[in-house]
Amino acid sequence: MVKIADRVKTLEYAIRDVTRKAREIQINRRVHWLNIGDPCLFDFKTPKYIIEALAKAAYDGKNYYADSLGVAELRRLIIESERKKSRIDIPLDNIIITSGVSEGIMFTAGTLVQPGLEMLLPGPCYSTYISYCKFFGGKGVEYRLAEEDDWNPDIDDFRNKITDKTNAIMVSSPNNPTGKMYKKKTMKEIVDIAGEYDLPVISDEIYDKIVYDGEFTHPASLTKDVPVIGMNGFSKAHMSTGWRLGYLYFYDPENKVPEIKENIEKLARSRLCANTPAQYAAIEAFKRPRNYTKTMVKKLEKRRDYTYKRIKEIEHIDCIKPDGAFYMFPKIELNGLWKDDKEFVLDVLENTGVCFVYGSGFGDYGKDHFRTTFLPPIADLGEVYEKLETYMKAKEK
Ligand SMILES: Cc1ncc(COP(=O)(O)O)c(C=O)c1O
Repeated sequence: MVKIADRVKTLEYAIRDVTRKAREIQINRRVHWLNIGDPCLFDFKTPKYIIEALAKAAYDGKNYYADSLGVAELRRLIIESERKKSRIDIPLDNIIITSGVSEGIMFTAGTLVQPGLEMLLPGPCYSTYISYCKFFGGKGVEYRLAEEDDWNPDIDDFRNKITDKTNAIMVSSPNNPTGKMYKKKTMKEIVDIAGEYDLPVISDEIYDKIVYDGEFTHPASLTKDVPVIGMNGFSKAHMSTGWRLGYLYFYDPENKVPEIKENIEKLARSRLCANTPAQYAAIEAFKRPRNYTKTMVKKLEKRRDYTYKRIKEIEHIDCIKPDGAFYMFPKIELNGLWKDDKEFVLDVLENTGVCFVYGSGFGDYGKDHFRTTFLPPIADLGEVYEKLETYMKAKEK
């Protein structure tokens, strides 16, 4: 009998796990795919000149393995971009180009988590953080994002969750699934506490340019000594999810944890390199002003406001308005009508064809919620919330 490694058996990715059921439903009815945060599936298209740069790179023969750390010109442009954003200086060798932020998450968890070593994660959070912590035999311990405080981290809970097993602290702002940004004051408190305990901060910054209200604070801009490993990517703000490109940067001004970088580099070498033509396309993306991201954000803001209004009008569902990203995380009053959030989401799918993700797929603090995205055009969103409202009214009878 072939044996399957225990570490893969517990892995879950609710965002795509609901797809199986939705595919069955799709045989007989239209499905509204609100489970995946992929702008390219809606009317957000990769800018033409970046596509042309990708094709040119391939035609020009840039089809070889790139350096494991990534193409130097791209890394230089990333350094400039991070300097503009946070006024921090990162040496060239402190940037690694990855196959999406997903690979950056895998690299950091693979380097910092093992049996007996934990990473503190926001709760609720992007499920990949939890999965990789489990996969590497360690544990993702969630600190509470307080819904009653606009999903801002509960600092007392955060401090209480630090133990001698804690090996890194993850921040994720604007957050997936709630769409909320950490307040600057809170981000500073987290960075200071990390400093107190000599812990590195891992910062997922994939939505830092998709912000409607306020301004994103980079944790690295708040410290002169706490090491920050930042992760960002091209999937969302550059509308190129399928190209699988992202990067990691190490901000470690006092050279406190060189061994994290050295060991992540080993992982980077083991997987050879990130997509070479896509790196050349990203160089073009970085050289010009990113007006397309601003246009995207303006369009999304209208869809956010519309979705928020429609959800607030539905009885027994409540919601906090997100500041960024393209998700909302409404709370459901289950009232004994559904066993839990998973049953709610599957029942909505079966009865309306609307595919949300169950909140518990984003960790324990996601219970009694569902995640939706406001990426579709307003006409489609209108149909979705019409169907949800009708469904909720029928359930009440
Ligand atoms: C918070 C967060 N981090 C990382 C990712 C994955 O990004 P990438 O496409 O760069 O792998 C996602 C995708 O939805 C996300 O929401």
